[in-house]
Amino acid sequence: MEASRNWRIAATVAAYAAPMNSATPPGPDSGLSVERAQLSLGGQPILRDVSLRVARGEFVALLGPSGCGKTTLMRVVAGIQRADSGRVRIGGRDVTAAHPAERDVAMVFQSYALYPHLTVAQNIAVPLTMTRLNGLQRMPLLGGMMPGSRAARAGIQADVARGAGPLGLSHLLDRKPGQLSGGQRQRVALARAVIRAPGAFLMDEPLSNLDAALRVTTRREIVEVHRRVGAATLYVTHDQSEALTMADRIAVMQAGEILQIATPEVIYRDPVDLRVASFIGSPRINLLAAMAGESGEVRVAGHPTPLRSFARGPVTLAIRPEDWVMDAEGLPARVEHAEFLGDHTLVHLRIAEAPVVLRTGTGLRVTVGESLRLGFAPERALLFGADGRRIPAELREPARA
Ligand SMILES: Nc1ncnc2c1ncn2[C@@H]1O[C@H](COP(=O)(O)OP(=O)(O)OP(=O)(O)O)[C@@H](O)[C@H]1O
Ligand SMILES: [Mg+2]
Repeated sequence: MEASRNWRIAATVAAYAAPMNSATPPGPDSGLSVERAQLSLGGQPILRDVSLRVARGEFVALLGPSGCGKTTLMRVVAGIQRADSGRVRIGGRDVTAAHPAERDVAMVFQSYALYPHLTVAQNIAVPLTMTRLNGLQRMPLLGGMMPGSRAARAGIQADVARGAGPLGLSHLLDRKPGQLSGGQRQRVALARAVIRAPGAFLMDEPLSNLDAALRVTTRREIVEVHRRVGAATLYVTHDQSEALTMADRIAVMQAGEILQIATPEVIYRDPVDLRVASFIGSPRINLLAAMAGESGEVRVAGHPTPLRSFARGPVTLAIRPEDWVMDAEGLPARVEHAEFLGDHTLVHLRIAEAPVVLRTGTGLRVTVGESLRLGFAPERALLFGADGRRIPAELREPARA
């Protein structure tokens, strides 16, 4: 009986979830795609059947906690690591077996990977010297005397100067990486990646070593470079505000699995999985144990709510902190603690022993120990089954049988 109920829930959720994830617009052969990549390292599954598509001109943020496999996936796309199975396509070509240099990708690594013996200017220039100078022209001393070398080198130098300016590196061009701070090294790595126009940008937490102010300006810089070049950009971060502000779509990854790929709004408002709902949003979404009765009515500790569930039995009701409203018919709650944060206040309460947070503007005054009744607009509430998958909620009585 349990199995058949789970199956029914799974079937309705799958039918419901499919259209949300297929909002993907990418063209048939542009950008980059990973199809069904699997990888185990040391007997541990690291990538579990990962599929992902980034259209040309699209910016996709790969968001997930530490150790979930983000860097590994980037390495597979870049060709530094081979997956056990699955395919990688870039710019319409199957590059699954191609060498990294043949993939037309520029990657910014989490660890900057700069050449320690080259200056900042020379480091930034590497991708250009590889493409614009031939083998003879690249030679250390004689190279400069080869025909065409002087003009090509002057062009490279001008491009490096132009690329270094917006990232605040102009005064550091003659230094070696060892003479730079972590944040400065990271910006050199970024400048080196964006100096040419590849088919795909892979960026692995390129802002992790920058201070807060520089991070905000560099974010904008990266988005502008992405727009200018029109490449497919895959951008790893574990910072949700970075993902929400920069990306066209967000891929939420956990434990080697991509749980959902969708626009920031859909990820926030319409998560298909409890793990996605809990990972996005600060403060975290409120979770309440609830029960869906025979006719689907959802109750919390016996109190009715305006929701009806398609599934029966125990469910998790999830409400964002900003979605609570005062409602005389609502769930009984007790105020435990309030944090004034200038433009808003976070009120910590308990509903039937479960801790919940309410985010409010400056209007509401509450006192510790006070009892309130909290309601919510049914279309703002999310329901999840015991397996963590989203359950569709009916908002109204069904129109007809
Ligand atoms: N060579 C290896 N052998 C065995 N396990 C590995 C190897 N390389 C990575 N792992 C494991 O694979 C998992 C994913 O690592 P990965 O570096 O991709 O995570 P991540 O999502 O980039 O994390 P972070 O946010 O901390 O950078 C981790 O649990 C890591 O310990
Ligand atoms: Mg990583």
